[in-house]
Amino acid sequence: MAADLLVKLYTLPALEPVLAQQRAQGIEIRRAIAPEKHVVVNWIQREFGDLWASETEVAYSNTPISCIIAVENEKLIGFACYDATCRGFFGPTGVTESLRGRGTGKALLLACLHTMHTLGYGYGIIGAAGPVEFYQKIVGAIPIPDSWPGIYRGILKAEDHVD
Ligand SMILES: CC(C)(COP(=O)(O)OP(=O)(O)OC[C@H]1O[C@@H](n2cnc3c(N)ncnc32)[C@H](O)[C@@H]1OP(=O)(O)O)[C@@H](O)C(=O)NCCC(=O)NCCS
Repeated sequence: MAADLLVKLYTLPALEPVLAQQRAQGIEIRRAIAPEKHVVVNWIQREFGDLWASETEVAYSNTPISCIIAVENEKLIGFACYDATCRGFFGPTGVTESLRGRGTGKALLLACLHTMHTLGYGYGIIGAAGPVEFYQKIVGAIPIPDSWPGIYRGILKAEDHVD
């Protein structure tokens, strides 16, 4: 059970201090670019699996690419997508497990949500939220009643998929 969450995009915390905090640690938060697609998608597939790799490929089909990445020492350490699974949806997102807890997930989330607000969305939706407290704490997200399995109902699985 992983409900979708609703986020007000008109009361988001400021982005620049969060980006500055990342820069101070040597972490760049920026939009992914096309020639990196194989690197980004393969990394997501290895770290987080096929479903998120597929969703990120769709983010790569948007112009501009609706995937924001975190880079440290020229290596990918995190990613976040919007407008991938559905218009107005945030996700998937993830940070390398050993590098969590430094504000990178928050910076990726806010970079995407601010972009969505600039694009004209009033609200964002966190699709099938895992760590609900993370989204509640940073952007005051609230669960959408009866939203699971929601848009994911009847999703096809690979023939060798094991739950
Ligand atoms: C969720 C995730 C992206 C967070 O990344 P992160 O870089 O560790 O997060 P941050 O360091 O930016 O955390 C920001 C704040 O949220 C809190 N937080 C982080 N993960 C949390 C969680 N799972 N539950 C509750 N709070 C959390 C942190 O304690 C921090 O609080 P603070 O600002 O008071 O210090 C990361 O844990 C992850 O990749 N998880 C696996 C993939 C996943 O579940 N993705 C989401 C799918 S919807």
